Amino acid sequence: MIAAGPQILTWESKLQIQSIGLRHEVLRRPLGMLFSPAELQEEIDQIHMGWVHGETVEAILLLKKTTPNQVKMRQVAVHPSLQGKGLGKKLVAFTEEWCKKNNISSIELNARETAIPFYLSMNYHAVGEPFTEVGIPHIKMVKSL
Ligand SMILES: CC(C)(COP(=O)(O)OP(=O)(O)OC[C@H]1O[C@@H](n2cnc3c(N)ncnc32)[C@H](O)[C@@H]1OP(=O)(O)O)[C@@H](O)C(=O)NCCC(=O)NCCS
Repeated sequence: MIAAGPQILTWESKLQIQSIGLRHEVLRRPLGMLFSPAELQEEIDQIHMGWVHGETVEAILLLKKTTPNQVKMRQVAVHPSLQGKGLGKKLVAFTEEWCKKNNISSIELNARETAIPFYLSMNYHAVGEPFTEVGIPHIKMVKSL
């Protein structure tokens, strides 16, 4: 059996570059949008947490430090053929454990309206008013670890 599990993808490694393709397919192409090179370069000091099966990145999320002990979780994407099978939840649960070990005490994110039930199922709470980002409705959600 080919091993599968979470791992931090090194910046500009084959897997990290592959994960941009996954993010494009899941998060940007449906909106008719592209990542700009400048936007991707800004991610150099973010944590790229992948769920890797053999040589394939099946799910991805990024963590951006906002304060020394708080992060913003962004770009959460599961391969379309694997959505709804628990993979997203496993990756987020692993990430939360990683955060605790690294003295991160809370996670915030901007949830797409369609993904709110997913985050609610993991005890994230909505705060504030809905807003528009990349042309679609979002709401800020937070979780204390
Ligand atoms: C949203 C996303 C990351 C969730 O990952 P996933 O692997 O499909 O979700 P899981 O199978 O781990 O679901 C975990 C829980 O959330 C629930 N859930 C997930 N998506 C849901 C939805 N759209 N509506 C209702 N519940 C949902 C599941 O029922 C499950 O609940 P349970 O643990 O009580 O059984 C994934 O579907 C995805 O990539 N979607 C497209 C991109 C996107 O919207 N990203 C988030 C941007 S903020």
